[in-house]
Amino acid sequence: MSPTASGSPAPEAGTARFPPGFLWGAATAAYQIEGAAQEDGRSASIWDTFCRTPGKVLGGDTGDVACDHYHRFRDDVRLMAELGLGAYRFSVSWPRVQPTGRGPAVQRGLDFYRALVDELLSHDIQPMVTLYHWDLPQELETSFPSGSSAGGGWPERDTAQRFAEYAGIVADALGDRVGMWTTLNEPWCSAFLGYGSGVHAPGRTDPVAALRAAHHLNLAHGLGAQALRGALPARAQVGICLNPSAVRPLTDAPEDLDAQRRIDALANRIFTGPLLKGAYPADLLADTSDITDWSFVRPEDLAVIKHPLDFLGINYYTPAVVSAATDPAAPRRDGHNASAHSPWPGADGVAFHRAPGELTAMDWAVDPTGLVDLLTEYASQAPGVPLFITENGAAYEDRPDAEGRVHDPDRIRYLHAHLAAVHEAIRAGADVRGYFLWSLLDNFEWAYGYSKRFGAVYVDYDAQTRTPKSSARWYARVAANGELPAG
Ligand code: FCB
Repeated sequence: MSPTASGSPAPEAGTARFPPGFLWGAATAAYQIEGAAQEDGRSASIWDTFCRTPGKVLGGDTGDVACDHYHRFRDDVRLMAELGLGAYRFSVSWPRVQPTGRGPAVQRGLDFYRALVDELLSHDIQPMVTLYHWDLPQELETSFPSGSSAGGGWPERDTAQRFAEYAGIVADALGDRVGMWTTLNEPWCSAFLGYGSGVHAPGRTDPVAALRAAHHLNLAHGLGAQALRGALPARAQVGICLNPSAVRPLTDAPEDLDAQRRIDALANRIFTGPLLKGAYPADLLADTSDITDWSFVRPEDLAVIKHPLDFLGINYYTPAVVSAATDPAAPRRDGHNASAHSPWPGADGVAFHRAPGELTAMDWAVDPTGLVDLLTEYASQAPGVPLFITENGAAYEDRPDAEGRVHDPDRIRYLHAHLAAVHEAIRAGADVRGYFLWSLLDNFEWAYGYSKRFGAVYVDYDAQTRTPKSSARWYARVAANGELPAG
């Protein structure tokens, strides 16, 4: 990680050519766009339940209809083709395919994804499947093997086994036509926002449960990757999408460097330790020893988790700036919803600060140097493993003008700066193979409901119309030319 809050020098503005074959894509996730929540045998996920719990999601919004993509996917794929996208990352809804998270698959659910993939391939758009983007079947959260004290969901070991079974089902159904597979999206969010701060589903606030969840997500990745390898043709590429944090200390004072180390352990090395090195970092175990003895980790798990990766997906939005808290009891800024419960078990003495830079509508600072730092860091930590930016983008207050056009110059500036960062990392030697803009469409932004618009395409949720914003046209030109204009 970079040594100070100022990070690397800003990426150069100028024309930048990307390597031949670089993939230009966009990303979405099932619960955020599909809708059709009660159709064709789909059952509830933890997000359906969370949305119905008063006070959890802004405005009481739900993913019941979202972008109605389940019914409009052919039009949406046509739009992707018009924008010249070469790849599309989407997630499969586990409760659509295996409603209770156990037992036989629902054919209609699988048929939907086969039809989507066929539509993509017929337009020469390469699919990248994510098996788990946060929509755990509610049944796995609620009912779990008797005698378990973990309380269901990801803190429960059995959930990792269930995930592997589900991975095998999806691989059998789509393996003949999908080449790029990722097991989990951002396991940090599932573990620490879902079970630590409780701002994401299922909304539990228990530090032990959060750490158990992190391990079982790692195990689910390993078991899931094994299941995928067992079912997929040898050419298939298997990876995972992480949201590593570019953590910067506020100053070089030893206590701020220690705050950086702690958050780096909880945000990053808790995943890359077992994934890349086959072990949890000793400092993480020490920092959290008052909370748990980690006896839920069985020695044999670590070899399973350290499954060779064909690629690593990196999701990046903004860096984190940390220091030692002058008053550990004071309210925290951690880049997520203010909450009485911390998503950082064992790091109560750490304060979070706003990173320098303009803010997006999420109040996230625009700072592409964090992306350069992460890409160069991961290129050296995982030598020989190709990297993809599997999410990057920004929310702004987009509104159609009188003619119905949506101008979003802020987003163009954001994308330009971050693509320049990717280019700079490639020049520095990082093997980055593609970029997926988050997101194709405005969509359901989790606890923020529909209040935040991340799309390159504007969605009118009442009329269900799509209007490409000026950033979509800009991105289409970049993708067509394989080159970033000077700017
Ligand atoms: C990421 C999520 C994605 C979206 C963006 C803004 O953490 O993976 O679903 O919400 O943030």
